[in-house]
Amino acid sequence: MTGRLITFEGIDGSGKSTQIARLQHSLESRGYEVLVVREPGGTPISEQIRELLLHPDSADLHPRTEALLFSAARSQLVHEVIRPALAAGSIVICDRYADSSIAYQGYGRELPLEEIITTQKFATSDLLPDLKVLLDVPVDISSDRKSQEPADRMESAGRAFMARVREGYLQLARTQPEQWLIVTGQTSEEQIAQEIENYVVKIISA
Ligand code: ADP
Ligand code: TYD
Repeated sequence: MTGRLITFEGIDGSGKSTQIARLQHSLESRGYEVLVVREPGGTPISEQIRELLLHPDSADLHPRTEALLFSAARSQLVHEVIRPALAAGSIVICDRYADSSIAYQGYGRELPLEEIITTQKFATSDLLPDLKVLLDVPVDISSDRKSQEPADRMESAGRAFMARVREGYLQLARTQPEQWLIVTGQTSEEQIAQEIENYVVKIISA
């Protein structure tokens, strides 16, 4: 028995956590076993790496070190949690996955894309999602929604950085349309949730 891996991607504040909670609820009420994890994090080791990555004191982190640490946190999560849950037949919903590294470290930090992609294959033992959901919002909406909370190290990277990340995601999703569901994250929470639920139910019952 094998489960399904669904990943949510998008710039900060695009509504991923909100939509993941709704999808979890609707899938569980249909009788599915659902596990939600977030990146970076989800295991004690990955949470320690998260602290190192996002703490404003880590200002000296070199972009390549940053890329390796995100990938290291992911590797631990895949092998300790995601693969066993999939083997047990669960639907695993991941708040960010390998495409976050391609979008943020590849497009955002402008590290060589092919090298970031190869690193993801290594870190995950090439575990690929069954579906990737991109919540697309303009950068201004993202910063308005995040303005109430103190910025972490990544959120302090600036508007031009976040604009490159958004464009990177759109490029990834448009060039691999069979892997992605692109959703406009600016309509109501309810409307977005319905669109995602309809699509996911079709995929997992196929
Ligand atoms: P992310 O996990 O992508 O950072 P969140 O789900 O935490 O995003 O949402 C960021 C903020 O935006 C929260 O305050 C949330 O209530 C709000 N939000 C989420 N979805 C919508 C929406 N469709 N319209 C307006 N505000 C939203
Ligand atoms: P978090 O608060 O979990 O994300 P969000 O703002 O989406 O709720 O912070 C994670 C930050 O790390 C976010 O700015 C995206 C960034 N990130 C990367 O740069 N590369 C990665 O591989 C991952 C997983 C996240």
